Amino acid sequence: MTTLGTDERLIVRALRREPLPRTPVWLMRQAGRYLPEYRAVRERAGGFLQMVRNPELAAEVTLQPVRRFEVDAAIVFSDILMPLQAMGMALVFDERGPVLPAPLCEREHVEALKPLVPAESLAYVGEALRLVRRELADETALIGFCGAPFTLAAYAVEGGTTGSFARLRGLMYRDTSTFELLMDRLADAAAAHLHYQAERGCDALVVFDTWAGSLGREDWLCYAAPWTRRVLAETAGIAPRVLFAGQSDHLLEDMAGMGAEGLALDHRTDLAAAFERTGGKVALQGNLDPAALLAGPEEVARRTHALLDDVEGRPGHVLNLGHGVLKETDPECVAAFVAAAKERER
Ligand code: CP3
Repeated sequence: MTTLGTDERLIVRALRREPLPRTPVWLMRQAGRYLPEYRAVRERAGGFLQMVRNPELAAEVTLQPVRRFEVDAAIVFSDILMPLQAMGMALVFDERGPVLPAPLCEREHVEALKPLVPAESLAYVGEALRLVRRELADETALIGFCGAPFTLAAYAVEGGTTGSFARLRGLMYRDTSTFELLMDRLADAAAAHLHYQAERGCDALVVFDTWAGSLGREDWLCYAAPWTRRVLAETAGIAPRVLFAGQSDHLLEDMAGMGAEGLALDHRTDLAAAFERTGGKVALQGNLDPAALLAGPEEVARRTHALLDDVEGRPGHVLNLGHGVLKETDPECVAAFVAAAKERER
């Protein structure tokens, strides 16, 4: 048996915009509560953080969707907020999602953050990657990830998911130097986290900037983009990078110039138009509406084929959703989504 090198895995080739026999496919949040086998492990572990911090359990849930759906990539089971915990912030997950009970508000809080040394404080991620790679088929890619500085700052300062980002925006405008110090620390942490995961065998890396699109273009250019650009500059060449930014149609052309090899689009952006707008500078990932998977399998297949028809013949597409799989999703609909991509093999 010959062994496939990282360079030959479909997703890596798509990110290089090579013509391929079919479009590779994976899903954001492909491991999660919509899968009964995930809920069973979570029950046994006693909670989300217990799963993430236990490499055997993290590897097991990483592999669940790969076994069930034969997606083209595994994404390591962890969270973008784990580095904040490693830097000294308290972090819990409850039914509503992440909560940081002691958010940063003073300059001393930012100064007290510990630099991130992934081999020490995130060693459980490295071990999960090793266990997953051992079980993965040769042709399946392994994806690592981090949060972009602005999105991490939103959680560190807001203390959880809020709609308005009033605390973050207040800090940003009124105490800009503290905000910038925080962004510097988070950019260092994000780059270190990506380097660690690439060293531990990841074929591709995703930088999640979920909240960047909440900024208008002028503020994004001033308060978010420089640090995302820095993370991408500091990780150039280690593995292809995909930049995800939700609700960022207004930033698409700028995002294409940030330095990532790929851009992940949410469902609000027209994919075929996005190929025109970005002019072949980057590969594009996306972008079926996650809520479309709440329709039946036939409707999912119809919509997936329609999406693929729209961009047929364009190199550089990785099929995915526009955001994570919703917990109400029927696994049969995920199967229909993956099958639609695979049955188009030429
Ligand atoms: O399968 C995968 O996608 C890999 C693992 C992964 C998780 N979170 C697991 C998770 C990844 C890549 C993330 C990224 C992440 N985490 C982002 C960026 C992407 C995005 O969704 O915009 C953000 C903003 C977070 C922070 C976070 N973690 C939130 C807002 C929530 C609550 C929302 C929710 O879906 O419950 C989490 C919890 C979380 N992270 C779960 C999972 C599987 C649910 C945990 C559970 O209750 O079992």
